[in-house]
Amino acid sequence: MTRKAAPTPAQTGGEGAVLRHVAIIMDGNGRWAKARRLPRVAGHRAGAEAVRRTLRAASKLGIECVTLYAFSSENWKRPEDEIADLTGLMKQFLRAEVDDLHEAGIRLKIIGNHHAFEPEAAAMVDAAVARTAANTASTLVVALNYGSQDELARAMRALAQQVQAGTLAPEAITPAVIAAQLDTADLPPLDLLIRTSGEVRLSNFLLWQAAYAELYFTETLWPDFDEAALAAAVESYACRERRYGGR
Ligand code: IPE
Ligand code: IPE
Ligand code: MG
Repeated sequence: MTRKAAPTPAQTGGEGAVLRHVAIIMDGNGRWAKARRLPRVAGHRAGAEAVRRTLRAASKLGIECVTLYAFSSENWKRPEDEIADLTGLMKQFLRAEVDDLHEAGIRLKIIGNHHAFEPEAAAMVDAAVARTAANTASTLVVALNYGSQDELARAMRALAQQVQAGTLAPEAITPAVIAAQLDTADLPPLDLLIRTSGEVRLSNFLLWQAAYAELYFTETLWPDFDEAALAAAVESYACRERRYGGR
């Protein structure tokens, strides 16, 4: 380990800590539905409404980048009909929202590999990404078939290939070089990671990127998440002192 610390963003303290990038593990749709004796799909549908509300709220707050965990690489373990419901809702969301996203100057970016979804859904995602690619007002990142360990394995594989080809020296592999290989390479550093539904784990989400992110866990189930819930998380963040190992 070298003595010199890797560069980290400026240390911030208390009031006014800058919030550029917030990521959300949107959890609790199933429990929301169960509490109402509704089928799980009703929870996912209500979850899609919460996505709309949250994006509007984030845009009001001027947040530059929002990353949403929509489907993990482990969610393929779920029954086929639930996966079909989620895919259907994703298509519905794109059909209903892409015009508005584009008009608001929002760029859609995917992390993970959405080509594992059925071809029509994957093509709709591709089209939305292409259409909004030049937008600069803010970025909506959706994690689809995303797993942090898979992302890191893909990055390591790419670097290993460069070493094998003789274009990269092993000594040249630094944290910055690894970060540049990740799906999140062009995004601002992660500031705040929110998880709803009372679970206190990362479930294979942004493990590398969360190294110095502030974590916020709330009991609120994702379909109940709204502007006030986001504001509470952002307020909590604003009171944190980020030290990055310094003093
Ligand atoms: C989050 O809600 C949505 C996805 C993971 C796609 P869940 O479906 O995990 O809801 P719970 O955790 O069973 O309540
Ligand atoms: C994490 O939630 C994945 C998403 C929110 C898309 P899960 O519900 O899949 O996580 P676990 O299984 O409780 O860890
Ligand atoms: Mg869950």
